[in-house]
Amino acid sequence: MSRRSGRGDSRVQAWFPTLIYQAPLSSGSAALALNRELLREAVQLRDFDRAGRNWSQANYHGGYTSYGSMDRLHQFSSTFDQLRRKLDTHVRRYAKSLHWELGGRSLEMTDCWLNIMPQGSAHSFHLHPQSAVSGTYYVKTPRGCPGLKFEDPRLSQMMAAPPRSADTVPEQRPHIVYPAKAGELILFESWLRHEVPPNPVAAERISISFNYHWM
Ligand code: NI
Repeated sequence: MSRRSGRGDSRVQAWFPTLIYQAPLSSGSAALALNRELLREAVQLRDFDRAGRNWSQANYHGGYTSYGSMDRLHQFSSTFDQLRRKLDTHVRRYAKSLHWELGGRSLEMTDCWLNIMPQGSAHSFHLHPQSAVSGTYYVKTPRGCPGLKFEDPRLSQMMAAPPRSADTVPEQRPHIVYPAKAGELILFESWLRHEVPPNPVAAERISISFNYHWM
């Protein structure tokens, strides 16, 4: 990671980076088959999960999430557990980049839930308290569907600072949007605020979100 300032002034260096991880889950035909199976089960789950559909009606406008009803899908479905095993590898790699000292404990998936967002549905800015690592795996991402938008974690502390110019380098902008791509995952530290802007396209965006605890 470069510590150059946005203005190319060698007297100024950047510190305290925020690390975001993005990668394909895995390569090859097995990954495609797993994604197909996840897609099939996602649609089944929504049909099956009446409590979740009710919960979503009150809390997840226009869309469906299993967050309020079935939030441990890796313990419910062997397909989701297969996904969990692949995610474990990425989380370990991410923890290495963060230089975390795990001290005999490990990072383990505690929550895993499904999100189906039709046109117009959104998920406004939030964070995932009580977890260490959070992330999302993308199952279905129709062309033009929204990505995952992150906010500079220091923004709320910049009370009297002038705004940054719109054409500044990406790493000094107050927000960054990661495109959602089927078959890929994004990991971030759970304290980092993020949102999914409204889905503008007439097709469902399907993703699986998860938390890892240090335990
Ligand atoms: Ni989230």
